[in-house]
Amino acid sequence: MSVDLNHVTHDISNIPRSIWWDIDSTNNQPGVFLIDQTRLPLIGDILCCQKLEGVELAIKTLAVRGAPALGVAAAMAIAIFSENESTAETVDDWLADISAAAQRISQARPTAVNLSWGADRLCTFAYEQAAAGLELSELKAGIVEFAQQMAADDEAVNRAIGAAGAPLMAEGSRVLTHCNAGSLATAYFGTVGGVIYTAYAQNRISHVWVDETRPLNQGGRLTAWEMMAAGVPCTLISDSMAASVMQSGWVDAVLVGADRICANGDTANKIGTLSLAVAARHFGIPFYVCAPLSTIDTTLATGSEIPIEKRDGRELAGFTVAGIILPDDEASSNAFDLLTSGGPRNISFKQGHEMSIYRKGGAYAFDAWFLNTPPDVPVYNPAFDVTPAELVTAYITEVGVLAADQIVSAASE
Ligand code: MRU
Repeated sequence: MSVDLNHVTHDISNIPRSIWWDIDSTNNQPGVFLIDQTRLPLIGDILCCQKLEGVELAIKTLAVRGAPALGVAAAMAIAIFSENESTAETVDDWLADISAAAQRISQARPTAVNLSWGADRLCTFAYEQAAAGLELSELKAGIVEFAQQMAADDEAVNRAIGAAGAPLMAEGSRVLTHCNAGSLATAYFGTVGGVIYTAYAQNRISHVWVDETRPLNQGGRLTAWEMMAAGVPCTLISDSMAASVMQSGWVDAVLVGADRICANGDTANKIGTLSLAVAARHFGIPFYVCAPLSTIDTTLATGSEIPIEKRDGRELAGFTVAGIILPDDEASSNAFDLLTSGGPRNISFKQGHEMSIYRKGGAYAFDAWFLNTPPDVPVYNPAFDVTPAELVTAYITEVGVLAADQIVSAASE
């Protein structure tokens, strides 16, 4: 059947931006602004980090997350350190300062290679500019501009990934995705997001199955929120339902992101990706990795060399939830007023749950962690797994759709 796909039928303009550089109006100092992804979708706080330590904490706690967004965050972290913290008065001292900042931010999380890629890229630029004889003030201004340009470049890369991947989707395809490799995982638009938004606008994708992605629910909290904001039809499933949905014949392609792709094509991505690849192969469904070239690490021959982040067992032993409390009667309002009169109030539970209640605007909000496993049960909580290249149908990148044996040459161009 031939289909005219040249008409755009869907409005996908409402896509969230994850990280940006701006001046904080409260103190007129520059800041790295980001949506706090730990509290989405029920609370949409914007964080402003004015120190390296702030961005580092945001990375470690996953307030900013997703490999390409981490690359931009690393660059902006160094730039904010240079603007607000470095006391260097000579170019040499400044280069030493930003190199130390780069080393520190690169270690915030181990698996996504984009983090050190972003830090290295900014430092390489700074060293080149210094070698060209620029003054300290020009160098400082230069890296601020460069970090912002990296965010803009990331968006362009994602749009190119979208343009490369969309033609692989037959009209009306139903795709399944895992974790969040959407706009929130990048500076803007997303890698998987890029393919989904582009293909949806062209009528090539009609529906997205969103894996919940335990333990931190990046699919249920972030991808579902993004898809709904953009108006892309989606259905949330738990990770354990994915194979059954495939078996039912309801999935035409699986699209996932990547945190690190090795020279042979082995790919680290959010834990649970490997099971999807195995199931997709079993049911004869194409399995695509959507990633920028910056995620390729040709220094590692195979996936067994990828450092896999292990996270706190509490993430699996319980659920973290943030929300707004809207008391609908005066007695409840008074009770919450009293509770929060001295600032945020920590409430302790005999079972071990944790909850903090605080005032937010005219209302109240809570941060909670609810234990729903036996206290002290041993937990194994790797954040990523490695999918062997043989299970990947193709890699959708900004330079086109690649086979595993094209990865090294594409990355070195
Ligand atoms: O732990 P996270 O949320 O940072 O993990 C994110 C992922 O695994 C993404 O799929 C990956 O970074 C690609 S984002 C385009």
